[in-house]
Amino acid sequence: MSESAANILFIGDVVGSLGKRTLLGLLPGLRERILIDAGHAPAFVVVNGENAAGGLGITPKIADELFAAGVDVITLGNHAYHRKEIFGYLGEHDAILRPYNYLRNQPGHGLCVVQRDGVRLGVVNLSGNLFLRAGHPAFTSVEAALGELAGRVDHVLIDFHAEATSEKVALGWHLDGRVTAVIGTHTHVPTADARVLPGGTAYITDVGMTGPRGGVIGVRKEQSIRGFVTHMSERYETSDEDPWLMGVLLRSSEAMKADAIEQVMLPAG
Ligand SMILES: [Fe+2]
Ligand SMILES: [Fe+2]
Repeated sequence: MSESAANILFIGDVVGSLGKRTLLGLLPGLRERILIDAGHAPAFVVVNGENAAGGLGITPKIADELFAAGVDVITLGNHAYHRKEIFGYLGEHDAILRPYNYLRNQPGHGLCVVQRDGVRLGVVNLSGNLFLRAGHPAFTSVEAALGELAGRVDHVLIDFHAEATSEKVALGWHLDGRVTAVIGTHTHVPTADARVLPGGTAYITDVGMTGPRGGVIGVRKEQSIRGFVTHMSERYETSDEDPWLMGVLLRSSEAMKADAIEQVMLPAG
């Protein structure tokens, strides 16, 4: 095993307190399994937390809880700023990221480097431009992000928070061979295309979410259906039915390359 060998568990959008409880309940066992399976190479945990506070945004208290549970990096997305109390926290904490290609005046930053047992992981949160509002183009901004990380990391993971499958697939191909992983989030529905691309980059269009599979991408299904049937504005609450954890496990034995990407889908309890 090379000095850059690592395992990365990436977990998709945590939805509400049920999603958080599901994550906190399953994480210790998952971490144990990864460490043992992987011959005790360092294991990083990256979690998208943009829906952790009641389905929209994240609070300092929730972010603290995730970090205390052993999460190395929290990524966000279009709901990053739903809770105002997180604005200051985003500036004060290195390992919580809002999309890198947002405007400079928007609170927070879009990349960080974390280290475990001498292995350095760079994480970049990036927003798509199709159907989502981001101040700068993802495909050119990511070059600036990789420039900032050059020479400072053994691995790079990109959380590409985007709506359109075309934009995500294109970024995977664009970065193949240059980063360890391009992982899609935002739609809350897992896709069946996880694979290591020919250049060695692990790719999946969307990992899904960690929360109630018994709703409509996190929302109570009755409310969502009523909205579609009546075309009237609805009050949306987080569903509490059938919680699952969804993510991917990446294994790597050399720098900036993945050996394998395995989908992780577990029901709570
Ligand atoms: Fe989300
Ligand atoms: Fe999102």
